[in-house]
Amino acid sequence: MLLDGKKISDEVKAELAVEVNKLISSGLRAPHLAAILVGNDGASETYVSSKVKACEQIGFGSTLVRLPADVSEERLLAEIDAINNNDEIDGLIVQLPLPKHINEQKVTDHVVPEKDVDGFHPVNVGKLVLGLPTFVSATPKGIMELLKRYNIETSGKHCVVLGRSNIVGTPMANLLSRNSNPGNCTVTLCHSRTKNLAEFTRSADILVAALGKAEFVTADMVKDGVVVIDVGITRVDDVNNPRGYVLKGDVAFDEVEPKSSFITPVPGGVGRMTIAALLQNTLQARLNSLQTQLIS
Ligand code: GUN
Repeated sequence: MLLDGKKISDEVKAELAVEVNKLISSGLRAPHLAAILVGNDGASETYVSSKVKACEQIGFGSTLVRLPADVSEERLLAEIDAINNNDEIDGLIVQLPLPKHINEQKVTDHVVPEKDVDGFHPVNVGKLVLGLPTFVSATPKGIMELLKRYNIETSGKHCVVLGRSNIVGTPMANLLSRNSNPGNCTVTLCHSRTKNLAEFTRSADILVAALGKAEFVTADMVKDGVVVIDVGITRVDDVNNPRGYVLKGDVAFDEVEPKSSFITPVPGGVGRMTIAALLQNTLQARLNSLQTQLIS
């Protein structure tokens, strides 16, 4: 059965639109998300424009700051400062990856944790690990929402996560091993140095593929009934497609789908949920700042 990220993200967005209307009817402004895009990488352009479009759909304000690929780190940090200090903006994301001459960690550290709706700041990552309320990075948060809304049993299951990135694999492993629902999984985090990878994947009840290699997971690597969450979105050249490429997940969908009990498609799966979760975080940032204003 398909885990329909489009359908569920539309539900989440409809719920968020209701919250926007509540704010407006109380005389308060809607949440506002700012995105900084450095350079003109095709995939990053697509992601950022989807995020801005989603804001417009549900009545959030949005600001897109475009900077050239050769922008100095200093100028980028100054743009972040300006948004950090702008009371009309609740959430700020800097689309990754950044050009090589810019230190990504320095940039991530510069966004104030209160506006870090990507959940990349060390303070927010630390809170995530401790299980404290925080901004959970959008892709893992969206996946948890998808598992929850499809009522997928996770307690006691063996979950295998492929990929240990800061953005997806590592927080995903953390969230799924928590004492929560979804959660309570026994988690194995596999990566490029894992030996006998297929032995792990074949024992997975839930498999989260987040390694960024098109169609890496094949049918022989999974057991019958597996729940498959495919985080990969790789552009693969295709002369028959008008765009010149097709999008492929980390899972060879056509052969793995028949063995799975649930599986996310690419596109229309995790990507949609990432955007919905980012919007949820942005609403949370707005509500947090209203609360801070009330008590100060
Ligand atoms: N690059 C890939 N995924 C993400 C994301 O969730 N947020 C940002 N800022 N950059 C990304």
